[in-house]
Amino acid sequence: MKLSRMFSSDLASRMILIHPPEPRKELLMSLPSEGIYIGKTKYMNVPVYWDFKKVINPHIGIVGITGSGKSYLVKTFLTRASLVLGANALILDWVGEYGKWVKQAGGKVISLNKEKLNLLDFGFTTKAVRIKQIMSALDVLADLKKYPTEREEIEDALEEVYKKKRKPNLRDIVKYLEKKKRSKSARILKRFTYEGCDFFAGNSTLNIKKLTTSGLVSLDLHELPTEEIRSLAGLTILQHIKELMRATKYDDKSGIKLLVVLDEAWKIAAKEESDVIDIVREGRKYNFALIVASQNPTDMHKTIFSNVGTMFIMRLVLKEFRDYVRSSIGYSQFIDSEISSFGVGDAAVNMIFTERQAQRACFLLKKVDGEEPLFLLKIIGDNMDVEVEKDQLMRMLYEQGLDDSQVSLIKAEFEKNDGILEAEKLVSFFEKFGYSRSSIISFLRQLGVKEKRIINIFSLVKMRRASKGVVDLIPED
Ligand SMILES: Nc1ncnc2c1ncn2[C@@H]1O[C@H](COP(=O)(O)OP(=O)(O)O)[C@@H](O)[C@H]1O
Ligand SMILES: [Mg+2]
Repeated sequence: MKLSRMFSSDLASRMILIHPPEPRKELLMSLPSEGIYIGKTKYMNVPVYWDFKKVINPHIGIVGITGSGKSYLVKTFLTRASLVLGANALILDWVGEYGKWVKQAGGKVISLNKEKLNLLDFGFTTKAVRIKQIMSALDVLADLKKYPTEREEIEDALEEVYKKKRKPNLRDIVKYLEKKKRSKSARILKRFTYEGCDFFAGNSTLNIKKLTTSGLVSLDLHELPTEEIRSLAGLTILQHIKELMRATKYDDKSGIKLLVVLDEAWKIAAKEESDVIDIVREGRKYNFALIVASQNPTDMHKTIFSNVGTMFIMRLVLKEFRDYVRSSIGYSQFIDSEISSFGVGDAAVNMIFTERQAQRACFLLKKVDGEEPLFLLKIIGDNMDVEVEKDQLMRMLYEQGLDDSQVSLIKAEFEKNDGILEAEKLVSFFEKFGYSRSSIISFLRQLGVKEKRIINIFSLVKMRRASKGVVDLIPED
């Protein structure tokens, strides 16, 4: 211990001369059209590109304390993956933290409290497999293995009800169990059928195939009533995706079709029986990549650490957590101590390269070189809707000759309303700043507003002036 500490401080002072080895450049660098740029290595400044063809499987794990930069890495990765790979992305958003970003990035947010997903739907598989999946989900979430009698009764009820009914749902199972006086088993499932908690007990409104082929989609699970329902929803959706992807044959050239993100999905990544573990273990079998992130490494099953193609270890403070990760991956004491003092965005990256019998390499990344999404502003009017990137609009305003305070007045007005401003209000600002009608018209044309709409906007401004007497220009608090 003493010796290693001496060694690492010694290393630190001679960093330029001695540092832990970094993988060869050819392994890290890719054509920007093929790899996803992440950042540069700490010592040799080699740009690191993630290329699924170079690692043993496309799955990714991320651990680090809150605020260490896990979600930022996910966002950066997804943004670039959509450009480089043309991949769709589906985020299972446990805490509802991705919504705003997804909207900014032009994606779609689906709130699960307004949807239903019949737990008994086969999805893309057979009855027998689906029964197995339902049982394994209940094993993970309700510890059903501890209650072998009830486990058997529930499995039996599934078999029987499927035989009797074409499109059964959970209520039918509960009814069947009650009829057979298997009340304890009925009770285990009944809580998923009560009003407000019946996400799984009606006809499905979610179309899994569509969700996985619609660009960037975030499923907001946080409004589901309980942690248990949230986890079961996440796991069920993942099971359907897995079957869907199994049905689509893997083609090396077509690459990654879909990225599925589980951020803070602690409960479903920890247990052996979970499909998360299967997917990671099965490696390249499907052409989708799973990204699992957690602040608590012990919530991730060891199989994830030892099998995942790419692991990002961001700042970890607790020794117990660091030991868990280190014992699963096996990097040096030096890297371990670096991990404990990382700044935001720093990471140790462990990759298992396909070249030469799955070589493992752990190296330090200076900082995830991130990318903020384009921030889109919207100008609306009746029957019109123009989107413009924030920086671009600000540039255009300066080009029109507006000064700093005028630009920030308009910016504040957009921000007040989540990035949206009525066209007539924008025009009012210009009039207030003393712009002529013809220069305002040319500005609106530049923004891409149609001629007919421009006339409408001006008449609205006029009407508003007439009714109010003065133009309302001071932003309200
Ligand atoms: N690589 C980075 N470069 C710049 N800012 C970052 C970076 N990583 C994270 N941040 C910022 O640090 C804060 C916390 O990051 P976040 O990704 O939410 O952490 P976590 O998900 O690990 O809790 C955010 O405000 C984020 O924008
Ligand atoms: Mg986060």
